[in-house]
Amino acid sequence: MTTFKKLTIFLFLSLCLPPSWANNTHDNFLECLHHKLRNSNSVSQGIYTPKNSSYSTIYNSFLGNRRITSDSKPSIIFTPSDESQIQAAIHCSKKHDLQIRIRGGGHDYEGLSYISETVFVIIDLRNLRSISIDTKDKTAWIQAGATLGEVYYRIAEKSKTLAFVAGVCPTVGVGGHFSGGGYGMMSRKFGTAADNIIDAKLIDANGKIHDRESMGEDLFWAIRGGGGTSFGLITSWKVKLLDIPEKVTVFNVTRTLEQNATQLVYKWQHIAHKVDDNLLLRLFLKSSQSPFSRGQRTIHAFFTTLFLGGVDELLPEMQKSFPELGLVKEDCIEMSWIESILFFAGFPRGIPIELLPIIWKFTSNNQTSFFKGKSDYVQRPISINGLEGIWKLFNQVGENAAELQFSPYGGELSEFSESETPFPHRAGNIFMIHYGVNWEKMESSEKHLSWIRKLYGYMARYVSKSPRAAYFNYRDLDLGVNNKGNTSYAQARIWGEKYFKNNFDRLVKVKTKVDPTNFFRNEQSIPPLLSKA
Ligand SMILES: Cc1cc2nc3c(=O)[nH]c(=O)nc-3n(C[C@H](O)[C@H](O)[C@H](O)COP(=O)(O)OP(=O)(O)OC[C@H]3O[C@@H](n4cnc5c(N)ncnc54)[C@H](O)[C@@H]3O)c2cc1C
Ligand SMILES: *[C@@H]1O[C@H](CO)[C@@H](O)[C@H](O)[C@H]1NC(C)=O
Ligand SMILES: *[C@@H]1O[C@H](CO)[C@@H](O)[C@H](O)[C@H]1NC(C)=O
Ligand SMILES: *[C@@H]1O[C@H](CO)[C@@H](O)[C@H](O)[C@H]1NC(C)=O
Ligand SMILES: *[C@@H]1O[C@H](CO)[C@@H](O)[C@H](O)[C@H]1NC(C)=O
Ligand SMILES: *[C@@H]1O[C@H](CO)[C@@H](O)[C@H](O)[C@H]1NC(C)=O
Ligand SMILES: *[C@@H]1O[C@H](CO)[C@@H](O)[C@H](O)[C@H]1NC(C)=O
Repeated sequence: MTTFKKLTIFLFLSLCLPPSWANNTHDNFLECLHHKLRNSNSVSQGIYTPKNSSYSTIYNSFLGNRRITSDSKPSIIFTPSDESQIQAAIHCSKKHDLQIRIRGGGHDYEGLSYISETVFVIIDLRNLRSISIDTKDKTAWIQAGATLGEVYYRIAEKSKTLAFVAGVCPTVGVGGHFSGGGYGMMSRKFGTAADNIIDAKLIDANGKIHDRESMGEDLFWAIRGGGGTSFGLITSWKVKLLDIPEKVTVFNVTRTLEQNATQLVYKWQHIAHKVDDNLLLRLFLKSSQSPFSRGQRTIHAFFTTLFLGGVDELLPEMQKSFPELGLVKEDCIEMSWIESILFFAGFPRGIPIELLPIIWKFTSNNQTSFFKGKSDYVQRPISINGLEGIWKLFNQVGENAAELQFSPYGGELSEFSESETPFPHRAGNIFMIHYGVNWEKMESSEKHLSWIRKLYGYMARYVSKSPRAAYFNYRDLDLGVNNKGNTSYAQARIWGEKYFKNNFDRLVKVKTKVDPTNFFRNEQSIPPLLSKA
């Protein structure tokens, strides 16, 4: 054979062989799906393979974190438009042993809804986002592809005095968020989003559709805090709507170190979990230029607050519990609850609320920065010394690159026992810490990751122990991952007890019963006992 011929064959083989995603599993799955859904005419409109020109647009929408990358993209993205199509996709992926990932709002911190090391298909729920509100019953059915912004807007459209409790970012999806807990600005009054779920529809590994009654109380318990992803595909949630006043009050006051921020943060830790349930004083901490001394950095503490009531009630409450903050009437703004959603999401004042249900469409495909988050629970106030140690660490990372959020607990969150739902962070917790760091260049990834891990290491002495607890919705693979091949209980327990404490064992029991072959799995999914998958 001539060299030329060899080269041609080499080029042919290397360039023209189908890429690794296009192996038989993939083709068999598509064939199976088409066969199963031969009477449904909209199927192929929901199937995207890398050959379709819109594949990247669909894949990339909702990706907000450049840190999450993988060489293996899904071989197929399927966007079902009804339950029967999901049943077919589950049937076919099981039959041909093709792993699935379920994508709701796509905000997973570790990308578990859209990356995987093995050949896989994404079931993307973007076409299932209808919301029906019953103001008389004070309930709503919400399809799992909806975002928080849509939920809030649809409720406000129907009523000025009903609301729902969930996170502040309007593009977060209810699929992941509700199944993992869901903390928001009204959580001291109403608990987590999961605490307010009263029914759900779920498709199990056998393709069976269940509601609360047919799934049974164990499985219904598991998906309200234990994450949907281990147990089935949730297609919709039924929630209880919550009574709120027509008028709420917000403020966002800043104090720097020169303005006694250290003392204020110290004091905050003693009162934020005990104040009136209608009051949630959230605290954000950043390090940037001091407004008082040129060229110097300082810590900025933002006291970002929602009060369910008018300013005339809020001021005496603040005077009683936190006079040191020096809050004055001019700091406060009265508004409707739905306007407060825009306020806490960081939109400029005056932006129309009509943006809320559509903002997810504009979340760009253009990932601008790298991000890593972690979480902790604090049960005793951190000393002044301890706080000063955090400030020091802030100086080792760029201005504004890092942010800490201190989210107060207490109130309704403590009214539940640790085992009432899988979300175990109840009485005894003063606040949750969310650590976040952002950077712009791939080259500085190592530096920023080691910075946040160093801070996390430093914090060990100030936070919950045995286990050192973490919030499941702030997914963090540093806490441990399942081993590949056989998912072992012992391995999973390492991360599982941090998120779920003693509820981990009950989650394993439920998993073993409803999905013994471990069809629904990812790097941090609950393992069944004696799994071979
Ligand atoms: C910008 C931002 C702001 C945030 N703010 C808050 C906040 O204020 N409060 C708070 O508590 N959390 C907050 N979070 C965390 C958020 O709750 C989680 O990231 C949540 O899991 C996102 O859900 P999702 O549907 O958008 O994500 P996805 O990535 O789609 O899903 C997350 C996980 O749930 C699984 N899943 C999704 N849908 C389903 C379904 N229908 N059935 C079964 N499994 C499913 C996925 O497979 C994946 O494992 C925030 C996250 C981000 C990125
Ligand atoms: C297709 O790829 C998957 C994952 O790499 C593998 O498990 C499977 O055996 C492959 N199928 C064929 C027919 O090569
Ligand atoms: C993707 O391409 C296939 C094959 O050409 C086609 O049948 C299908 O409808 C396309 N999908 C979308 C969403 O356009
Ligand atoms: C700072 O806080 C401490 C403790 O609360 C207080 O004694 C002191 O007067 C405060 N200083 C200023 C400048 O507000
Ligand atoms: C609070 O104020 C700070 C500083 O101006 C700002 O960066 C932050 O976005 C504000 N937060 C809200 C919710 O308005
Ligand atoms: C993506 O973002 C970068 C930086 O923000 C910008 O320069 C670029 O034009 C954007 N690209 C697209 C396609 O929007
Ligand atoms: C997985 O478990 C099965 C049954 O316990 C065992 O036969 C098999 O060897 C294990 N595989 C791996 C990769 O550990």
